[in-house]
Amino acid sequence: MKINNTEFIRSAAKFEDYPRHHLPEIALAGRSNVGKSSLINNIVNRRKMAFTSSKPGKTQTINFYKVDNYFYFVDLPGYGFARVPQEVKDEWGRMIETYLFNRRNLESVLLIIDARHKPTDDDLMMYNWLVEMNMPTLVVATKIDKVKNSQRNKQKRLINKKLSLTEFTPFTFFSAETGEGKGRVMEFISQFID
Ligand code: GTP
Ligand code: MG
Repeated sequence: MKINNTEFIRSAAKFEDYPRHHLPEIALAGRSNVGKSSLINNIVNRRKMAFTSSKPGKTQTINFYKVDNYFYFVDLPGYGFARVPQEVKDEWGRMIETYLFNRRNLESVLLIIDARHKPTDDDLMMYNWLVEMNMPTLVVATKIDKVKNSQRNKQKRLINKKLSLTEFTPFTFFSAETGEGKGRVMEFISQFID
């Protein structure tokens, strides 16, 4: 799979506003500010395709990106962002749930977590949902460029323990800065496209 052209299709909050098409969708779920939008930019080789920000809460609706004629990346709002009112959190939660439970095009989810820290309770809740839904999921621990080589195994063990991952769970470290893990992400996504 060689990605030539990625196009922002639309932003949607409500189910009725999702684009209609017949390609598979790969969604990105993860805590606010973890690096979901940056991962999209890295994979599609475009620095500013998906909006990123050093402040949490940048992606507040569901954003659909068409990647050639292969698939769509679906950038979901981040969860677990403390500094927004409860009503807004509830709204984002409903948006994510509605998408994950109802979207027929959805084939697989990349669950993005922070390689520097133990996964949060929200990460665990999201991961358990995906498992219950039998959703093919790749766990991506990003920002690995910020972790010392000597700490990697320790971080992997923390992640395994919190999320109860086994050696068979699809997992990769990733960095949007260095491109580490990009090949593994591409390989995983390739399974879901024709
Ligand atoms: P929301 O849209 O707010 O949910 O955030 P997001 O998950 O889309 O995160 P985003 O991609 O906007 O990245 C948040 C911040 O982390 C930005 O300052 C990025 O530059 C930084 N960042 C993302 N990925 C990496 C990475 O792999 N390494 C490093 N060092 N920084 C990263
Ligand atoms: Mg974002």
